[in-house]
Parts: sequence; structure tokens; C-alpha cells
Amino acid sequence: MTEPLRWGVLGTGGIAHTFASDLRFTDDGVVAAVGSRSKVSADAFGDEFDVPRRHASYEDLVRDDGVDVIYVGTPHPLHFANAMLALEHKKPVLVEKAFTMTAQEARDLVAAARSNQLFLMEAMWTRFLPHVVALRDLIHKGALGEIVTIEADHGQWFEHDPGSRLFAPELGGSALLDLGVYPVSFASMLLGTPERLTALVDPAFSGVDGQASMLFGYAHGAQAVLNCTSGARTATRACVSGTEARIEIDGDFYAPTSFTLITRDGDEQRFDFATRGRGLHYEAHEVASCLRDGKLESSVMPLDESVSIMETMESVLNFL
Ligand SMILES: NC(=O)c1ccc[n+]([C@@H]2O[C@H](COP(=O)([O-])OP(=O)(O)OC[C@H]3O[C@@H](n4cnc5c(N)ncnc54)[C@H](OP(=O)(O)O)[C@@H]3O)[C@@H](O)[C@H]2O)c1
Repeated sequence: MTEPLRWGVLGTGGIAHTFASDLRFTDDGVVAAVGSRSKVSADAFGDEFDVPRRHASYEDLVRDDGVDVIYVGTPHPLHFANAMLALEHKKPVLVEKAFTMTAQEARDLVAAARSNQLFLMEAMWTRFLPHVVALRDLIHKGALGEIVTIEADHGQWFEHDPGSRLFAPELGGSALLDLGVYPVSFASMLLGTPERLTALVDPAFSGVDGQASMLFGYAHGAQAVLNCTSGARTATRACVSGTEARIEIDGDFYAPTSFTLITRDGDEQRFDFATRGRGLHYEAHEVASCLRDGKLESSVMPLDESVSIMETMESVLNFL
């Protein structure tokens, strides 16, 4: 039995809380340390999750010898600098989605990890959830035939607060980077990088993108129809249709959920999964497995794909 991976959580916001809470559901990782811009927040987080090592700066966290890997849970504009800081201190990193603000930042971050021979992964937790693992397996076994169409949406309603992370430009405000990244990444996982792309993108009240409807075209003729909005709570469902059958994923498709496999003739098979917590421990388990096996990246969320997803989102944002 190997020792559990010692996580250093960088930032003490909403998702850092969820991550620390979900780590309880895996026995191969513990929160060993937390770093915050403020000692008060680091201590409060430490008290809540019983974290022994509390740092009043991100620099002190990445220097901590009692930490094996850093989880970056700050707003998107800080991902690049925070992940770079960790890499500079020879720490492997798991970086929240959206991976970075720009494709260039993504390329630079990946280059830094590779040149330092350090593990790096985008925290696209959806890919590691049981229903998505099962969906990939069914598709791999040919249950759908050739994929023809993917539909997916992710809309959430947010109050019009100019200081909100969703709307403030300086905090990376963007429906696409926050919400649309899920359908874009889902389509990428199944069909790769689109060959053709068009979109309607409209601003929210603050001027950042508030809604995007995207059409992607792939080699062999498959298409994806994707939507995101920060102005309405949508069904957040996804459907993958192939020549033989389709899979309809219940909302919220990006979180732990169920799906139905429906053949061309209408025969239905239901797939339900038992999960605990929010489900972030599955990605933490992937990181632990990769590090244990000496891998520098995950084959389920590869780095070139994180770069490609940022490039695709950048192309979509050109339509704003
Ligand atoms: N995987 C998921 O399901 C999921 C869900 C929600 C969000 N996310 C991602 O996680 C990231 C953080 O989102 P969140 O909702 O957790 O944000 P949040 O609640 O605002 O927390 C962000 C944290 O980042 C730190 N921070 C550093 N510089 C900051 C600045 N200038 N302004 C605000 N905070 C700053 C703060 O921690 P300290 O004060 O301790 O330094 C803050 O608590 C985003 O990239 C988002 O896309 C992922």
C-alpha cells in the first residue's frame, strides 16, 4: 500500500472547498496543505478540512516539501501564473478548467511542464465520472456505430453582478470559458478537433461573452451542436447519436448522472451509477494513478487536447 498523495490546495474558494470535501472519497489522496492570499482564509480552510499545513501565500505553498502535487483552484486569469509557479518549484499540477485564458498560455504551460518533466493536467473532472467512462467504453465497443451528431448545452442563470467571476473581465468572466468548456470538451473527447466551426456569440451586460451557440464540423462529416449561456438554467443534457444507436445523457451531463442507450429501432437500455460527493475525487484518483505510474500526462485528458480545446474556444470567441 503506497502512501496517499499529499495535495496542496492553492486558493480557498468555492471549488477548492468541493475538491477538499470530495478527497474524502478516495484513499489515495489527502489535503496536506493549503495556500491562500490570506492567513485567515488558509486557517479557516485548514480548520474545516483538518489540513495541518496552512500558508499565507501561494509561494510558500509551492515551496512546501510536505506537498506532492498542487491543485490550482483560482479564477481562470490566474491559472497560468499559479500553475507556472508550481512547476518552477518542481511540483506536478492539476489546474482547474478553463485551463488558461488563451491558447498561447496553454501552449506555454504545457511546454514548461514538458521541459521540466513534470505532470500537468486540466481538471476536466467530467471525463473521469463513471457515466462518462461507461459512455466511452460503449462507444469504443461500437455500440453507436459511427458518430454522426453530438448535441450538448450548459446554461446557468447568474445574477447580474458586475463583480461576479462570470461577468467581470478581470476575473476571466465568460460563459464559454466557464460553462461552454464542458460541451466543447465533451465534443472534443469524442470527435477531436473540429475542422470547421461557426458560432453566434453575444455579450452579457458586462460586455464579456454571455451566450454562444456553436456548430462544429469534423472529418468524415460528423457535426456537433453546442450551446452555453450565463443567462438561463438550461436542460444541460447531452446526446451522442450514431448510425446504430444514440446515448441520451440526463442533465447535468457534466456532473455525476445517468444515461439511456437507445437503438435505431427504439430499444432502450438504462445505465445508472452510484457516486458519492460531487465527483471531483475521480480526477484526483487519475492524478494519483498517473504519478504513481510515472506518467507526465493523463491519456484521458491529454495536454495537446487541452491546448486544442483552448484554440477552439478562442476561435469561437472571435465571433463575439
Ligand atoms: N470543476 C468544477 O466543477 C468547477 C466549479 C466551479 C469553478 N470551477 C473553476 O474553478 C476556478 C475557481 O472558481 P471558484 O468558483 O472556486 O472561484 P471563487 O469561489 O471565487 O474562488 C477563487 C479563489 O481564488 C483565489 N484568488 C486568487 N486571486 C483572486 C482574485 N483576484 N479574485 C478572486 N479570487 C482570487 C481566492 O482564494 P484565496 O483568497 O484563498 O487566495 C479565491 O477564494 C475557476 O477557474 C472555475 O472555472 C470549477
